[in-house]
Amino acid sequence: MAKMWEGRTDGVTDKLADDFNSSIHFDCKMYKQDIEGSMAHALMLGAKNIISKADADLIINTLQDILSDLQSGKLTFDYSAEDIHMFIESVLTSRIGDVGKKLHTARSRNDQVALDLRMYLKEQTDIISDLLSDLIEVIVNKAEEYKKDIMPGYTHLQRAQPVTMGHHLMAYAMMFLRDKARLKDCKKRINVSPIGCCALAGTTYDTDRYFEAEQLGFEDICLNSLDGVSDRDFCVEFLSALSIIMVHLSRFSEELILWSSWEFKFVELSNAYTTGSSIMPQKKNPDMAELARGKTGRVFGDLMGMLTVLKGLPLAYNKDMQEDKEGVFDASETVINCLSVFVKMIDTMKINKQNMLNAAGGGFINATDLADYLVKKGMPFRSAYKIAGQAVKLCIEKGKILETLSLDEYKALSDLFEEDLYNEINLETCVNKRVSVGGTSFTSVENQIKYVKDKLING
Ligand code: ARG
Repeated sequence: MAKMWEGRTDGVTDKLADDFNSSIHFDCKMYKQDIEGSMAHALMLGAKNIISKADADLIINTLQDILSDLQSGKLTFDYSAEDIHMFIESVLTSRIGDVGKKLHTARSRNDQVALDLRMYLKEQTDIISDLLSDLIEVIVNKAEEYKKDIMPGYTHLQRAQPVTMGHHLMAYAMMFLRDKARLKDCKKRINVSPIGCCALAGTTYDTDRYFEAEQLGFEDICLNSLDGVSDRDFCVEFLSALSIIMVHLSRFSEELILWSSWEFKFVELSNAYTTGSSIMPQKKNPDMAELARGKTGRVFGDLMGMLTVLKGLPLAYNKDMQEDKEGVFDASETVINCLSVFVKMIDTMKINKQNMLNAAGGGFINATDLADYLVKKGMPFRSAYKIAGQAVKLCIEKGKILETLSLDEYKALSDLFEEDLYNEINLETCVNKRVSVGGTSFTSVENQIKYVKDKLING
């Protein structure tokens, strides 16, 4: 394809250099945004009499045809073009001649590419936010179903205190809710229009940047043209928000992997979201969760790549910035894929209540409650803690659990112990006594569920 910038040079570059320079292989993803941005630009040029209304109409109608032709497959990308912007402009010019050449008045690819990317990311944040809502919804449904099912809560991966599966799941619902809020906040800064900043310094034409921004659904415009064409903070923020989503998915994945092992058997993932082994017939592998955990590294890499591209760049636009898109596209696609799989995987996962309860019963996770029992009878906590520790030691020696030590054995440790201690260390009592806000009692978990459901509806 002939070089649009032929003039200063003869436009002849080496094929290797052309390929190296070209971005159409990936920025073709933004064809819709590029065309819509150009239509708004042409409308503004016409409205401000920078070009005639008739020319603006012809450009807009032809761009509309180009969009339909690309969508129907009648027109395909020419990968010898330098980028999507040059490709669309050259098709336009090939269809309507000199009038097409007027579109690029009072515009540069520098503000054009920033515009396209912001428009693209606005859409992506909405898609990801909706998927997060779907995931929160399936988590909340499961939490509701298992709000009374006791499992061991862990610290240091050692059994610590009893919690319910509902409580544990709601922890993830809270994380994904914050992720949604983060995306919403990040979208505020994506939703600012750079078009009209032109190459770097603004323009001598009497343009109307607000008109263009409004046409394209932007809330505001970039107020410094140098910043407008060189700001990629919105990409960094988007990638940060996505990285945090991946941290949450990865931690959740890790637990699902652990919980579906023979050693735990707290959950069973549906056959549809596991795989077998090519050699070991007994295997049912949690590949989807493992892949999500693994893909987290990619998204972090995309964030790190973006930060590194930007760190040494002088103002304003530099070609380095063409490297912004692949990472952003990759991260977005990765997160969308992971979330889509997760929604279904969680929805179809079975929970083994009995195995969780068995695990909760074997690890002295009611030892804190035993100490609290003595505290309620007047003993200082540190002394009570010591006696509860001695009770655990005795259990280990005798092969018992706290529930099966006899009252005489307890009384030998402290004469404050009475028959009612057994009710206090019953796991269900332990859970239901934790009525503090955010705690694991059924009522506290119900309140958490209510809160998250309300946030999902009312934002
Ligand atoms: N393909 C370029 C990019 O993605 C478009 C902007 C090119 N601008 C320029 N002055 N060469 O950044």
